[in-house]
Amino acid sequence: MITFNTAEKLWKIETKNTCYAMKIVYGKYVGHVYYGAKDKFSEEGYKEIFQVFSPYQEEIGDRFSLATVPTELSFFDSGDVRDTGVKIQNANGDCTTLFCYKSHRTFQGRIPFEDMPYSKGADETLEIVYEDGVSGCELYTYYSVFEDSDTITRYAKFVNKGAKPVQIRQATVAQLDVYQGEYTLVTLCGDYFKERAVTESPVHIGIQRIYSKRGHSSHQFNPFIALKEVSATEDEGDAYAMEFVYSGDFEAQAERGYQGNIRLMIGLNRDTFSWLLEKDEEFWTPEVIFTYSNRGTNGLSQNLHNHIRAHVIPQKFVYAPRPTVINTWEAMYFNIDEDILLEYAKKGKELGMDTLVVDDGWFGERNDDTVGLGDWYVNKAKFKNGLKSFSEKVHSVGMHLGIWIEPEMVNPQSAVCKRHPEWVLQCKNRPSSLSRQQLVFDLTNDEVIDYIVGQIKDTLSDVPLEYIKWDFNRSLSESGSLFLPAERQGEAKHRFVLGSYKMHKKLTEAFPNVLFEGCSGGGGRFDAGILFYCPQIWTSDNTDPVERLTIQKGTAWAYPASAISAHVSNSRSNALETSPDYNFRYNVALGGVLGYEMNILRLSPEDEKKVKAQTEENRKLQPLILRGDQYRMSGLNEGEFGQIFAAKDKSECLLVYQNVGEAKRKRVYLKGLDSAAVYQTDNGEKYLGQTLMEEGVPLPSDCRYIAFHFHKTEQ
Ligand code: DGJ
Repeated sequence: MITFNTAEKLWKIETKNTCYAMKIVYGKYVGHVYYGAKDKFSEEGYKEIFQVFSPYQEEIGDRFSLATVPTELSFFDSGDVRDTGVKIQNANGDCTTLFCYKSHRTFQGRIPFEDMPYSKGADETLEIVYEDGVSGCELYTYYSVFEDSDTITRYAKFVNKGAKPVQIRQATVAQLDVYQGEYTLVTLCGDYFKERAVTESPVHIGIQRIYSKRGHSSHQFNPFIALKEVSATEDEGDAYAMEFVYSGDFEAQAERGYQGNIRLMIGLNRDTFSWLLEKDEEFWTPEVIFTYSNRGTNGLSQNLHNHIRAHVIPQKFVYAPRPTVINTWEAMYFNIDEDILLEYAKKGKELGMDTLVVDDGWFGERNDDTVGLGDWYVNKAKFKNGLKSFSEKVHSVGMHLGIWIEPEMVNPQSAVCKRHPEWVLQCKNRPSSLSRQQLVFDLTNDEVIDYIVGQIKDTLSDVPLEYIKWDFNRSLSESGSLFLPAERQGEAKHRFVLGSYKMHKKLTEAFPNVLFEGCSGGGGRFDAGILFYCPQIWTSDNTDPVERLTIQKGTAWAYPASAISAHVSNSRSNALETSPDYNFRYNVALGGVLGYEMNILRLSPEDEKKVKAQTEENRKLQPLILRGDQYRMSGLNEGEFGQIFAAKDKSECLLVYQNVGEAKRKRVYLKGLDSAAVYQTDNGEKYLGQTLMEEGVPLPSDCRYIAFHFHKTEQ
């Protein structure tokens, strides 16, 4: 619910448990007042702190300065001398920017984005309009409310109402000033093969920034930033998060002043983005999801999970049974052989899998990674009678078919690149760097998009197909466009992302019944933007179960388990296993959507039995993993991992625990149950909900991993 108190000029945006408040100060600025629990609202968060040296406006007086107050957005060189939020270069050439409050309105729902992912199903939206008196530019900022998930989304629109063109030089989308309390900064950082490790650091004086300049959201830094009270636990205490619904270059940061005030910001990357706005043109920023919880960091993650599941991921797929794939990559790489694939399909069926995914190697002259990308026709040497006939054979053994594509990319050796070298992102007179032997298509150009989409549609539309894995295997460099004029080159990377979204829209609409899985060399584009099109994302190329635990734990901080694609493989044995322990690997995969990626023709009869039992069990557990409230276990030691999926109606719950360290744990404790109800394990043991949560369940001695499944039952 959004209310405006006319006398106090105060807005309150309320969700089920939270309240976000701001007010108009001195008739022209928008001050941030409060973000927190609904029942604890106070105006104390808004402070005007006097500081010498701070610039002030004569008509207001020297007690007020933009340099010290909490605001909703900060503008370059107009008194707020903290780091810049929004910067416009006006026709005079200077970048001084000051957007002042002009008007506001509220309306039901929200204005849908035409060309970008966004959260659907908003209850209400507040629009605040600002104006910059010199450039004539207007800034519309939006707050859309999602009462049930305790989230708000923020986004903005710049409109040039002035007589002359302006350049947007910096576009922060959301800002949060927190002036009270001690906080820890939480980010999800890593690398290829080590994505999204939870990284906690004290908020120190100065700026802590994470970012991507890679053209995808990146393995290194996820577009997510959170603050938690130093004293907060997994289940109690205050925490805030911002998550960008965007798949390209971004920046997110915390800035702390000497007085202890903290400012969180997230938006487009200042180094790689600028946008020319001609008279009357408009520019929309992507959206940021904002949330607060006083139920600790589990509450925070649950708000994000609920929001992403209910408002971002396509509803048709989000809770529908997911395919249990057998993916060929780790077993075959480029050596695709139709006969062996059919053997995989038959064996997969026997083992309880349901979808054979031909991952790479099926198209163009693709026998290795030097060629093929961009030539989306079937390789006839590998599929003699074409893909349709192959797919029919796969279906005749009772399996579905999945196919791998990488539409944004092209090999210089591919036929299309030889015909159209100008279709590649590039800077005039500068050689383009390769990465994985590939270049990047210039998706700022619709002709390129239409060509690739057309080719993929032509090749796949008569093929019975249920799943497509969409990969993206390099970071961008020399990312200019031959199709943009000099003064618009700064737009190329954002336009590229918009082009990628256009492609996602066209292809997902062309194959409405196909489940798309996102991927970027593992988890290099794991973000809410991609989830708008792809209900699940390949989490990492690292399928080592021990290392996967850290990757999945971090990913689940910000994204629901239903988005986390998790395969059992036999790659890279870790120190804990002399040979792959498939039950351990399966236990780890319970943190997401189960699949397999290994040579299933070479399993021992005992391992085959195990895998069969896993796929059977998983079919029963999957609805809970897709829909449940996910909790991280508390009080874990180094090397311990544990999570609980509790059904929203408290009828069922799954606890998954792993110990890859030295801890000697005796019991594990459930969360999210009805304390008065009786729960029964799959073996028939009965426990009171309260007992499970307070006294826990005993673990077998030296337990390395285990899963308990409980159902509510009669007394
Ligand atoms: C990178 C992906 O992460 C892998 O899973 C696989 O799809 C390869 N690309 C195929 O080239």
